[in-house]
Amino acid sequence: RAAGTALAAVLCALVGVPDHALAAPGAPGEPRYSPGAADVGDPYFPDQGNGGYDVRHYDIAFAYDPSTKHMDATTTVEAVATQDMDRFDLDFRGPQITSLTVDGHKASFERSGQELIVTPRPKLKSGKDFTVVVKYAGTPPVVTDPDGSIEGWVPTDDGAFVPGEPQGAPAWFPGDDHPTDKATFTFHATVPEGVTAVGNGKLVSKTAAGGHTTFVWDEKEPMATYLATVTLGNFTVAQSATPSGIPVYTAVDPRLADRSAAAVSKIPDIVEYFSTIFGPYPFSSVGAIVDQAPDVGYALESQTKPIFSSAPSVGTMAHELAHQWYGDSVSVGRWSDIWLNEGFATYASWLWTEHTGGATAQQTFDSAGNYGRAATSSFWQTVTADPGPEDMFGNVPYNRGAMTLHALRGKIGDAVFFKLIKDWATTHRHGNGRTADFVAAAQQASGQDLTRFFDVWLYQKGKPATW
Ligand code: ARG
Ligand code: ZN
Repeated sequence: RAAGTALAAVLCALVGVPDHALAAPGAPGEPRYSPGAADVGDPYFPDQGNGGYDVRHYDIAFAYDPSTKHMDATTTVEAVATQDMDRFDLDFRGPQITSLTVDGHKASFERSGQELIVTPRPKLKSGKDFTVVVKYAGTPPVVTDPDGSIEGWVPTDDGAFVPGEPQGAPAWFPGDDHPTDKATFTFHATVPEGVTAVGNGKLVSKTAAGGHTTFVWDEKEPMATYLATVTLGNFTVAQSATPSGIPVYTAVDPRLADRSAAAVSKIPDIVEYFSTIFGPYPFSSVGAIVDQAPDVGYALESQTKPIFSSAPSVGTMAHELAHQWYGDSVSVGRWSDIWLNEGFATYASWLWTEHTGGATAQQTFDSAGNYGRAATSSFWQTVTADPGPEDMFGNVPYNRGAMTLHALRGKIGDAVFFKLIKDWATTHRHGNGRTADFVAAAQQASGQDLTRFFDVWLYQKGKPATW
């Protein structure tokens, strides 16, 4: 079109037709179709997310055989166009695509890195709901992160461990992979008889047929893609409820039953305690998946079902459950805000320790390894509010982040501090928040000028000496 327009412009200039008469594609008010952006512009993961649409719901149906590692999948993405669009991207690193339709019409597509570039015909008008159905088959990949850890689809000796933070979700389903585009999810997992599939939200049905079992899981509350999981394995399942009546579903690898019993049995109490300080639990179910995935070596706060790659301590359980408020319900707007997840969850575990008769939060703040680290320690050389993709799950967002909250509590007083963090969970419930929003909320709540405070704790390198 560009070449044709340029040629037309030359011809029109020759015969004296005014320029604006050429304006493509037509009269005012007519759609001006353009491609949706290929990413959201998050510098930590420059390919993540996409523009031009909002996802409303994912329906992910797959059959997986742990012995061959073969997946056969159909993912349906229901979205709404936010611009007149003739092309859009999904994030996808999964196996070979065998068919792709938009609103039932076969659409042409290309793949380039994690971008799945789709050309829908007819084109999509702004405000239009549309449905993309992608069928694919093969072995989903393990994804390696900037810090060297692995995520995505990680096969285990009896199934698969499936963590997605910060960029693992596109390993097993196509989507808009950035925490700013939340959606509801339904999963249909078909696995060989004897394997249990555990997903986010609630178990809707479990149907056996021909040596296979299909588990349907439904998450009705908005969820960021990185928090999606369907983890597969040999699990002992138990169901109970918190004192407030939130259903609890736990799935534990029998090899880890003894070592994880203390942490798993505390789930109702931890959720209840956090509800008193952070406000009502933000989802309609809770639980945990304890699996043996030795190559992973970390836990993840998958929504409603944190996943543990080994037997968790009570402290780790408290950390992942605190993330349900801070991380899952209130999610980061950009990955550089990660201390809002990790600092809050770490501080919550300090509060749990104090609540259960262990070290006080002040003692944890002071003790060696935290504020006690020498000013010369490399620990103080990372900026809390911008640690970089390699250190986003390192010591600083966790411990310096938690120390920031404890220091803030000392500065503004318990009453203002606890109201602030509860209000933060309420204001941004099922949404996103950024560091600058939190700083502004703290200023507002306290009536104090906290510029220097946040400068030394969040935005500068070096050990804060006074604040
Ligand atoms: N958010 C997780 C936790 O602290 C850690 C995820 C680590 N992921 C990674 N790719 N290193 O509970
Ligand atoms: Zn965490």
